[in-house]
Amino acid sequence: VPLQRLNTFGIAARAMRLARVRSDADVLALVRHPDWRWQDTFILGGGSNIVLTGDVRALVLKVEITGRRLVHEDARGWLVEAGAGERWHDFVAWTLQQGWPGLENLALIPGTVGAAPVQNIGAYGVELQDRFHSLDAIDLETGAPLTLRHEHCAFGYRDSVFKHERPHAGGMGLKGRALITRVRFWLPKRWRAELGYHDLQRKVAETGITDPSPQQVFDWVCQIRRAKLPDPAVLGNAGSFFKNPTVTPEQCADIIGRDPHVVHYPMPDGSVKLAAGWLIDACGWKGKTVGRAGVYEKQALVLVNLGGPTNPCTGGEVMTLARLIQTSVYERFGIRLEPEPVVVG
Ligand code: EPU
Repeated sequence: VPLQRLNTFGIAARAMRLARVRSDADVLALVRHPDWRWQDTFILGGGSNIVLTGDVRALVLKVEITGRRLVHEDARGWLVEAGAGERWHDFVAWTLQQGWPGLENLALIPGTVGAAPVQNIGAYGVELQDRFHSLDAIDLETGAPLTLRHEHCAFGYRDSVFKHERPHAGGMGLKGRALITRVRFWLPKRWRAELGYHDLQRKVAETGITDPSPQQVFDWVCQIRRAKLPDPAVLGNAGSFFKNPTVTPEQCADIIGRDPHVVHYPMPDGSVKLAAGWLIDACGWKGKTVGRAGVYEKQALVLVNLGGPTNPCTGGEVMTLARLIQTSVYERFGIRLEPEPVVVG
Protein backbone atom coordinates (compact mmCIF):
# COMPACT_ATOMS: atom_id res chain seq x y z
CA VAL A 1 0.00 0.00 0.00
CA PRO A 2 1.56 3.38 -0.97
CA LEU A 3 2.02 5.72 2.00
CA GLN A 4 3.04 8.83 0.07
CA ARG A 5 -0.34 10.50 0.47
CA LEU A 6 -0.61 9.34 4.08
CA ASN A 7 2.39 11.33 5.38
CA THR A 8 2.63 15.12 5.17
CA PHE A 9 6.31 15.01 4.14
CA GLY A 10 5.08 13.29 0.99
CA ILE A 11 7.85 10.68 1.23
CA ALA A 12 7.28 7.67 -1.03
CA ALA A 13 7.28 4.46 1.02
CA ARG A 14 4.99 1.47 1.23
CA ALA A 15 3.25 -0.49 3.94
CA MET A 16 3.20 -4.27 3.51
CA ARG A 17 -0.29 -4.28 4.99
CA LEU A 18 -2.67 -1.54 6.04
CA ALA A 19 -5.99 -1.76 7.87
CA ARG A 20 -8.39 1.15 8.18
CA VAL A 21 -10.18 1.16 11.53
CA ARG A 22 -13.46 3.07 11.67
CA SER A 23 -14.83 1.77 14.97
CA ASP A 24 -13.89 0.01 18.21
CA ALA A 25 -15.34 -3.15 16.67
CA ASP A 26 -12.89 -2.91 13.76
CA VAL A 27 -10.00 -2.78 16.23
CA LEU A 28 -11.32 -5.68 18.31
CA ALA A 29 -11.80 -7.85 15.22
CA LEU A 30 -8.08 -7.41 14.47
CA VAL A 31 -6.95 -8.04 18.05
CA ARG A 32 -8.95 -11.30 18.21
CA HIS A 33 -7.34 -12.70 15.09
CA PRO A 34 -5.14 -15.73 15.97
CA ASP A 35 -2.07 -14.27 14.23
CA TRP A 36 -2.39 -10.91 16.00
CA ARG A 37 0.79 -9.44 17.53
CA TRP A 38 0.46 -5.87 18.71
CA GLN A 39 4.26 -5.44 18.54
CA ASP A 40 4.03 -5.80 14.75
CA THR A 41 1.65 -2.88 14.25
CA PHE A 42 2.08 0.83 13.66
CA ILE A 43 -0.67 3.31 14.52
CA LEU A 44 -1.09 6.05 11.90
CA GLY A 45 -3.17 9.21 12.25
CA GLY A 46 -2.69 12.13 9.87
CA GLY A 47 0.96 11.21 9.21
CA SER A 48 2.01 14.76 10.06
CA ASN A 49 4.70 13.91 12.59
CA ILE A 50 6.56 11.00 10.97
CA VAL A 51 9.60 10.50 8.75
CA LEU A 52 9.45 7.33 6.65
CA THR A 53 12.98 6.03 6.08
CA GLY A 54 11.87 2.88 4.29
CA ASP A 55 8.94 0.56 3.72
CA VAL A 56 6.96 -0.28 6.82
CA ARG A 57 6.91 -3.99 7.67
CA ALA A 58 4.42 -3.59 10.49
CA LEU A 59 0.67 -3.75 9.91
CA VAL A 60 -0.30 -0.08 9.64
CA LEU A 61 -3.49 0.76 11.53
CA LYS A 62 -4.94 3.86 9.92
CA VAL A 63 -7.29 5.35 12.49
CA GLU A 64 -10.47 6.73 10.89
CA ILE A 65 -12.85 6.84 13.84
CA THR A 66 -15.08 9.89 13.38
CA GLY A 67 -17.74 11.76 15.37
CA ARG A 68 -17.84 14.83 17.57
CA ARG A 69 -20.31 15.74 20.28
CA LEU A 70 -21.03 17.71 23.42
CA VAL A 71 -20.85 15.19 26.27
CA HIS A 72 -21.83 17.49 29.12
CA GLU A 73 -22.47 21.14 29.88
CA ASP A 74 -22.81 22.84 33.23
CA ALA A 75 -22.38 26.32 34.68
CA ARG A 76 -18.60 25.98 34.55
CA GLY A 77 -17.95 24.69 31.07
CA TRP A 78 -18.39 22.28 28.18
CA LEU A 79 -17.07 18.76 27.90
CA VAL A 80 -16.53 18.01 24.20
CA GLU A 81 -15.51 14.74 22.55
CA ALA A 82 -14.11 13.84 19.14
CA GLY A 83 -13.22 10.61 17.39
CA ALA A 84 -9.50 9.97 16.99
CA GLY A 85 -9.71 10.14 13.19
CA GLU A 86 -11.23 13.63 13.05
CA ARG A 87 -8.94 16.27 11.58
CA TRP A 88 -7.64 18.39 14.46
CA HIS A 89 -8.09 21.76 12.79
CA ASP A 90 -11.65 21.00 11.68
CA PHE A 91 -12.50 19.99 15.23
CA VAL A 92 -11.06 23.25 16.60
CA ALA A 93 -13.03 25.29 14.04
CA TRP A 94 -16.22 23.36 14.87
CA THR A 95 -15.93 23.99 18.64
CA LEU A 96 -15.62 27.72 17.98
CA GLN A 97 -18.65 27.66 15.66
CA GLN A 98 -20.61 25.99 18.45
CA GLY A 99 -19.59 28.83 20.79
CA TRP A 100 -17.19 26.75 22.89
CA PRO A 101 -13.87 28.61 23.00
CA GLY A 102 -10.54 27.37 24.35
CA LEU A 103 -8.78 25.60 21.50
CA GLU A 104 -8.24 28.65 19.23
CA ASN A 105 -4.48 28.94 19.88
CA LEU A 106 -4.11 25.40 18.51
CA ALA A 107 -5.70 26.25 15.14
CA LEU A 108 -4.18 24.94 11.91
CA ILE A 109 -2.01 22.27 13.53
CA PRO A 110 -1.93 19.40 11.02
CA GLY A 111 -2.93 15.88 12.02
CA THR A 112 -5.74 14.13 13.81
CA VAL A 113 -7.46 14.40 17.19
CA GLY A 114 -6.12 10.99 18.22
CA ALA A 115 -2.51 11.97 17.56
CA ALA A 116 -2.80 15.23 19.49
CA PRO A 117 -2.33 13.74 23.01
CA VAL A 118 0.56 11.51 21.89
CA GLN A 119 2.92 14.44 21.49
CA ASN A 120 0.88 16.88 23.59
CA ILE A 121 0.61 19.34 20.69
CA GLY A 122 1.18 22.95 21.61
CA ALA A 123 1.38 26.38 20.04
CA TYR A 124 1.14 30.06 20.96
CA GLY A 125 1.10 29.58 24.71
CA VAL A 126 -1.36 26.67 24.93
CA GLU A 127 -0.72 22.94 25.07
CA LEU A 128 -3.23 20.16 24.58
CA GLN A 129 -2.74 19.21 28.24
CA ASP A 130 -4.22 22.58 29.28
CA ARG A 131 -7.61 21.61 27.78
CA PHE A 132 -7.44 17.81 27.95
CA HIS A 133 -10.03 15.96 30.02
CA SER A 134 -9.71 12.24 29.24
CA LEU A 135 -9.50 9.75 26.41
CA ASP A 136 -10.65 6.29 25.45
CA ALA A 137 -8.26 3.77 23.99
CA ILE A 138 -8.03 0.08 23.29
CA ASP A 139 -5.16 -1.97 24.68
CA LEU A 140 -3.82 -3.68 21.55
CA GLU A 141 -2.28 -6.46 23.63
CA THR A 142 -5.49 -7.60 25.32
CA GLY A 143 -8.32 -5.81 23.53
CA ALA A 144 -9.37 -4.26 26.83
CA PRO A 145 -10.95 -0.80 26.76
CA LEU A 146 -8.98 1.89 28.62
CA THR A 147 -10.06 5.29 29.84
CA LEU A 148 -7.19 7.58 30.74
CA ARG A 149 -7.54 10.83 32.64
CA HIS A 150 -5.07 13.66 32.71
CA GLU A 151 -2.92 12.22 35.50
CA HIS A 152 -2.49 8.93 33.62
CA CYS A 153 -1.01 10.54 30.53
CA ALA A 154 2.24 11.97 32.00
CA PHE A 155 2.11 14.95 29.66
CA GLY A 156 5.33 16.88 29.13
CA TYR A 157 6.69 19.17 26.46
CA ARG A 158 5.84 17.27 23.22
CA ASP A 159 5.68 14.14 25.37
CA SER A 160 3.27 11.67 27.01
CA VAL A 161 2.96 8.00 28.08
CA PHE A 162 2.10 7.25 24.45
CA LYS A 163 5.70 7.99 23.44
CA HIS A 164 7.33 5.68 25.98
CA GLU A 165 7.68 1.92 25.89
CA ARG A 166 8.47 1.61 29.58
CA PRO A 167 6.70 3.08 32.59
CA HIS A 168 7.38 6.80 32.52
CA ALA A 169 6.72 9.63 34.97
CA GLY A 170 4.20 7.57 36.90
CA GLY A 171 2.43 6.57 33.67
CA MET A 172 2.30 3.10 32.17
CA GLY A 173 4.40 3.30 29.01
CA LEU A 174 1.88 2.79 26.25
CA LYS A 175 3.89 3.38 23.07
CA GLY A 176 2.37 1.43 20.19
CA ARG A 177 0.14 -0.42 22.61
CA ALA A 178 -2.78 1.93 23.32
CA LEU A 179 -4.83 2.81 20.23
CA ILE A 180 -6.61 6.06 21.07
CA THR A 181 -10.22 6.01 19.88
CA ARG A 182 -11.81 9.19 21.32
CA VAL A 183 -10.52 12.28 23.14
CA ARG A 184 -12.44 14.64 25.45
CA PHE A 185 -11.69 18.27 26.21
CA TRP A 186 -12.89 20.46 29.06
CA LEU A 187 -13.54 24.01 27.88
CA PRO A 188 -14.30 26.37 30.79
CA LYS A 189 -16.95 29.07 30.32
CA ARG A 190 -14.72 31.56 32.09
CA TRP A 191 -12.60 32.20 28.99
CA ARG A 192 -9.66 34.54 28.63
CA ALA A 193 -7.65 35.10 25.48
CA GLU A 194 -4.15 33.62 25.81
CA LEU A 195 -2.00 36.30 24.19
CA GLY A 196 1.38 35.85 25.89
CA TYR A 197 3.28 34.52 22.86
CA HIS A 198 5.40 37.15 21.10
CA ASP A 199 3.67 36.70 17.72
CA LEU A 200 0.24 37.29 19.30
CA GLN A 201 1.54 40.31 21.23
CA ARG A 202 2.57 41.73 17.86
CA LYS A 203 -0.97 41.21 16.50
CA VAL A 204 -2.41 43.07 19.49
CA ALA A 205 0.02 45.94 18.92
CA GLU A 206 -0.61 46.05 15.15
CA THR A 207 -4.41 46.01 15.35
CA GLY A 208 -4.94 47.82 18.64
CA ILE A 209 -7.40 45.04 19.61
CA THR A 210 -6.61 44.28 23.25
CA ASP A 211 -9.66 42.10 24.03
CA PRO A 212 -10.05 39.85 20.96
CA SER A 213 -12.85 37.32 20.62
CA PRO A 214 -11.99 33.60 20.40
CA GLN A 215 -12.62 33.80 16.65
CA GLN A 216 -10.23 36.75 16.37
CA VAL A 217 -7.49 34.79 18.15
CA PHE A 218 -8.20 31.83 15.85
CA ASP A 219 -7.84 34.10 12.80
CA TRP A 220 -4.59 35.59 14.13
CA VAL A 221 -3.10 32.17 14.79
CA CYS A 222 -4.05 31.05 11.27
CA GLN A 223 -2.43 34.19 9.80
CA ILE A 224 0.77 33.74 11.84
CA ARG A 225 1.10 30.08 10.91
CA ARG A 226 0.39 30.71 7.21
CA ALA A 227 3.06 33.43 7.16
CA LYS A 228 5.88 31.35 8.63
CA LEU A 229 5.06 27.66 8.35
CA PRO A 230 4.81 25.83 5.01
CA ASP A 231 1.43 24.34 4.12
CA PRO A 232 2.10 20.58 3.86
CA ALA A 233 -0.32 20.38 0.93
CA VAL A 234 2.05 22.68 -1.01
CA LEU A 235 5.48 21.89 0.47
CA GLY A 236 5.83 18.58 2.32
CA ASN A 237 7.00 18.81 5.94
CA ALA A 238 6.40 17.49 9.45
CA GLY A 239 6.29 20.78 11.38
CA SER A 240 9.14 21.57 13.75
CA PHE A 241 11.83 18.99 13.18
CA PHE A 242 13.58 19.42 16.56
CA LYS A 243 12.35 20.13 20.06
CA ASN A 244 13.33 23.39 21.67
CA PRO A 245 16.12 22.34 24.07
CA THR A 246 16.05 23.08 27.78
CA VAL A 247 19.29 24.06 29.49
CA THR A 248 20.46 25.20 32.93
CA PRO A 249 20.97 28.92 33.56
CA GLU A 250 24.75 28.24 33.62
CA GLN A 251 24.65 26.58 30.17
CA CYS A 252 22.56 29.49 28.91
CA ALA A 253 25.09 32.00 30.20
CA ASP A 254 27.81 30.07 28.37
CA ILE A 255 25.82 30.23 25.12
CA ILE A 256 25.12 33.93 25.56
CA GLY A 257 28.91 34.25 25.82
CA ARG A 258 29.20 32.62 22.39
CA ASP A 259 26.40 34.71 20.91
CA PRO A 260 24.60 37.40 22.91
CA HIS A 261 21.53 37.34 20.61
CA VAL A 262 20.45 33.76 21.40
CA VAL A 263 16.64 33.58 21.82
CA HIS A 264 15.91 32.12 25.26
CA TYR A 265 12.91 31.90 27.57
CA PRO A 266 13.15 31.38 31.34
CA MET A 267 10.89 28.51 32.47
CA PRO A 268 8.85 28.38 35.68
CA ASP A 269 11.10 25.62 37.07
CA GLY A 270 14.25 27.77 36.77
CA SER A 271 15.54 26.14 33.58
CA VAL A 272 15.86 28.02 30.29
CA LYS A 273 14.33 27.04 26.95
CA LEU A 274 16.26 27.92 23.80
CA ALA A 275 14.74 28.49 20.36
CA ALA A 276 16.09 25.62 18.26
CA GLY A 277 15.07 27.51 15.10
CA TRP A 278 17.31 30.38 16.13
CA LEU A 279 20.30 28.07 16.84
CA ILE A 280 19.93 26.40 13.41
CA ASP A 281 19.44 29.74 11.70
CA ALA A 282 22.56 31.14 13.43
CA CYS A 283 24.55 28.23 11.98
CA GLY A 284 23.49 29.35 8.51
CA TRP A 285 21.16 26.47 7.60
CA LYS A 286 18.18 28.35 6.12
CA GLY A 287 17.70 27.26 2.51
CA LYS A 288 20.42 24.56 2.65
CA THR A 289 19.69 21.16 1.09
CA VAL A 290 20.68 17.50 1.04
CA GLY A 291 19.33 15.96 -2.15
CA ARG A 292 15.69 17.04 -2.29
CA ALA A 293 15.41 17.62 1.48
CA GLY A 294 15.87 21.21 2.56
CA VAL A 295 15.71 23.67 5.45
CA TYR A 296 12.69 25.94 5.04
CA GLU A 297 13.69 29.47 4.12
CA LYS A 298 11.34 31.24 6.53
CA GLN A 299 11.72 28.97 9.59
CA ALA A 300 14.93 27.02 10.09
CA LEU A 301 13.24 24.54 12.46
CA VAL A 302 11.18 23.08 9.62
CA LEU A 303 12.64 20.60 7.12
CA VAL A 304 10.83 20.37 3.79
CA ASN A 305 10.45 18.08 0.78
CA LEU A 306 11.64 20.12 -2.20
CA GLY A 307 10.90 17.39 -4.74
CA GLY A 308 7.11 17.57 -4.46
CA PRO A 309 4.92 14.55 -5.14
CA THR A 310 6.60 13.57 -8.41
CA ASN A 311 10.24 13.57 -7.29
CA PRO A 312 10.04 13.45 -3.49
CA CYS A 313 12.97 13.51 -1.11
CA THR A 314 13.75 10.30 0.73
CA GLY A 315 13.60 9.77 4.47
CA GLY A 316 17.33 9.08 4.28
CA GLU A 317 17.97 12.55 2.84
CA VAL A 318 15.88 14.12 5.59
CA MET A 319 17.78 12.22 8.30
CA THR A 320 21.17 13.05 6.75
CA LEU A 321 20.25 16.73 6.69
CA ALA A 322 19.00 16.45 10.30
CA ARG A 323 22.28 14.88 11.43
CA LEU A 324 24.37 17.55 9.70
CA ILE A 325 22.30 20.21 11.47
CA GLN A 326 22.73 18.45 14.82
CA THR A 327 26.50 18.27 14.39
CA SER A 328 26.76 21.90 13.36
CA VAL A 329 24.64 23.16 16.29
CA TYR A 330 26.60 20.95 18.68
CA GLU A 331 29.96 22.23 17.46
CA ARG A 332 28.92 25.86 17.66
CA PHE A 333 26.77 25.89 20.83
CA GLY A 334 27.40 22.58 22.62
CA ILE A 335 23.69 21.74 22.43
CA ARG A 336 22.30 18.40 21.27
CA LEU A 337 19.06 18.87 19.34
CA GLU A 338 16.51 16.08 19.67
CA PRO A 339 14.31 15.27 16.66
CA GLU A 340 10.61 15.78 17.21
CA PRO A 341 8.91 13.53 14.61
CA VAL A 342 8.77 9.77 14.92
CA VAL A 343 11.20 8.01 12.55
CA VAL A 344 9.62 4.91 10.97
CA GLY A 345 10.85 2.24 8.61
N1 EPU B 1 13.85 31.95 14.98
C1 EPU B 1 14.90 32.42 14.23
N2 EPU B 1 15.15 31.84 13.01
C2 EPU B 1 14.39 30.82 12.54
C3 EPU B 1 13.31 30.33 13.32
C4 EPU B 1 13.07 30.92 14.54
O1 EPU B 1 15.61 33.32 14.64
O2 EPU B 1 14.66 30.34 11.44
C5 EPU B 1 13.53 32.62 16.25
C6 EPU B 1 12.25 33.44 16.11
O3 EPU B 1 12.51 34.72 15.64
C7 EPU B 1 11.69 33.42 17.51
C8 EPU B 1 12.15 32.11 18.06
O4 EPU B 1 13.20 31.65 17.24
O5 EPU B 1 12.24 34.47 18.27
C9 EPU B 1 11.03 31.11 18.15
O6 EPU B 1 10.48 30.87 16.86
P1 EPU B 1 8.92 30.61 16.61
O7 EPU B 1 8.12 31.64 17.31
O8 EPU B 1 8.71 30.44 15.16
O9 EPU B 1 8.60 29.26 17.38
P2 EPU B 1 9.43 27.91 17.54
O10 EPU B 1 9.99 27.88 18.92
O11 EPU B 1 10.38 27.76 16.41
C10 EPU B 1 7.48 26.52 18.54
C11 EPU B 1 6.87 25.16 18.31
C12 EPU B 1 5.91 25.21 17.14
C13 EPU B 1 4.81 26.22 17.47
C14 EPU B 1 5.45 27.58 17.74
C15 EPU B 1 4.44 28.56 18.24
C16 EPU B 1 8.45 23.47 19.04
C17 EPU B 1 9.45 22.43 18.63
N3 EPU B 1 7.90 24.18 18.05
O12 EPU B 1 8.27 26.82 17.40
O13 EPU B 1 5.33 23.91 17.02
O14 EPU B 1 3.90 26.33 16.40
O15 EPU B 1 6.46 27.46 18.78
O16 EPU B 1 4.03 28.24 19.53
O17 EPU B 1 8.18 23.61 20.23
C18 EPU B 1 5.60 21.80 15.94
O18 EPU B 1 5.77 21.32 17.06
O19 EPU B 1 5.61 21.08 14.91
C19 EPU B 1 5.39 23.23 15.81
C20 EPU B 1 5.28 23.82 14.63
